[in-house]
Amino acid sequence: MRLSQYFLPLLKETPSEAQIASHRLMLRAGMIRQTAAGIYTWLPLGFRVLQKVEQIVREEQDAAGALELLMPTLQPAELWRESGRYEDYGEEMLRLKDRHEREMLYGPTNEELITEIFRQAVRSYRDLPKNLYHIQWKFRDEVRPRFGVMRGREFLMKDNYSFDVDKAASLVSYFRMFKAYMKTFKRMGLTPIPVRAATGPIGGDLSHEFHVQADTGESQLYFDSEIETLDENKLDPASPTVQDELLKWYAATDEKHDPAAFARVPEARRREARGIEVGQLFYFGTKYSAPMKATVAGPKGDTVAVEMGSYGIGVSRLVGAIIEAFHDEVGIIWPESVAPFRVGLVNLRPGDKECAEAGEQLYQRLMKAGIDTLYDEREESPGAKFAAMDLIGLPWQVVVGPRGLKQGVVEIKERKTGAKQELSPDAAVARLVGLR
Ligand SMILES: Nc1ncnc2c1ncn2[C@@H]1O[C@H](COP(=O)(O)OP(=O)(O)OP(=O)(O)O)[C@@H](O)[C@H]1O
Ligand SMILES: [Mg+2]
Repeated sequence: MRLSQYFLPLLKETPSEAQIASHRLMLRAGMIRQTAAGIYTWLPLGFRVLQKVEQIVREEQDAAGALELLMPTLQPAELWRESGRYEDYGEEMLRLKDRHEREMLYGPTNEELITEIFRQAVRSYRDLPKNLYHIQWKFRDEVRPRFGVMRGREFLMKDNYSFDVDKAASLVSYFRMFKAYMKTFKRMGLTPIPVRAATGPIGGDLSHEFHVQADTGESQLYFDSEIETLDENKLDPASPTVQDELLKWYAATDEKHDPAAFARVPEARRREARGIEVGQLFYFGTKYSAPMKATVAGPKGDTVAVEMGSYGIGVSRLVGAIIEAFHDEVGIIWPESVAPFRVGLVNLRPGDKECAEAGEQLYQRLMKAGIDTLYDEREESPGAKFAAMDLIGLPWQVVVGPRGLKQGVVEIKERKTGAKQELSPDAAVARLVGLR
């Protein structure tokens, strides 16, 4: 992408409404703009990151055997009356009427709708297990939307729902998602902290939240530092002892915190930290299937309400959480897996014939090698160009300038470490291709 043709409205000033780094940086780097309180437009650069995050989530859901579908944002109120949540959900739910005076709502979550879809289609335990997911915008009329996309009113969530014949099978589905979540967040460069959590309006008796540590996080966590090195590959979701294995390491949100149990963790390993909740798992049995009559013929010819769980990931919140985890005083530092472009190619003197030719050639070669490159060929001061590149945080910068070219070299800079290296254009391309 040529920067002169791109849409990247950078801000020089720090926007006064932004209280935390990720919000400030997303506005300054031209990733988002606020449309209304807690409602954002994703500009091209931000949208690329959102799509990368979404794709990692999708790949790990698919790998775990979940099936993607797409439910609408608007739902009929009747479904929520069946579960009893229409009244319970309160002010957070955006309710509206269509032209026929039918009561509708903008979905804050989808347990009712998926249960309706399931009960229409599945009749026998032989068709179980099933695990269905979608990645769709949600609306929750939060009292205090803040921190940009971190706590929006409209936000993108991956939510899935598992259906099993009995509790034991449902817990296998639950821990399969546990594993998938660990993998998902690790692929984004994060160190997820899974903690025991309260269930809130979703209900049920088993729940874990996944957190990213950050001083600006809204949750209080208490955990054994050993949980940070948890290797999900060693967890067998089908093992009847998987729940106990996880209980070996203390990890809880403040609602579930048990000071006496925490005190038994060796002192050097006790951690109290703030966390950003990026995902949550719920096992809630028949909370929705019983009132909504989502039943199947069981193995003994009996009729059983299916056992369910639901699992959410805050896709749009993750973009903010990743920035909270990876930035410095001058800008964002994207992990490669979610970077909007891998390389920022800076031409210091686009008006100069040699620089223009060398820059263009490098750009063509990088693109041909399949490396997403943002080429800054604008007439701007070198200082402004470097500042822009550091701000938007692409993992690699390649700088083409008249002085280097005289010696037959360009400069490669790694954003994360600041380490610079001078290489011939050939070697620079080979290096960036090799790093992938
Ligand atoms: N207002 C919001 N803005 C952005 N992401 C959100 C918001 N609310 C929830 N999420 C994301 O969706 C995921 C699944 O939704 P869940 O129902 O667990 O949210 P929640 O527990 O109500 O979130 P929170 O406690 O942060 O309000 C959360 O883990 C979070 O990452
Ligand atoms: Mg939650």
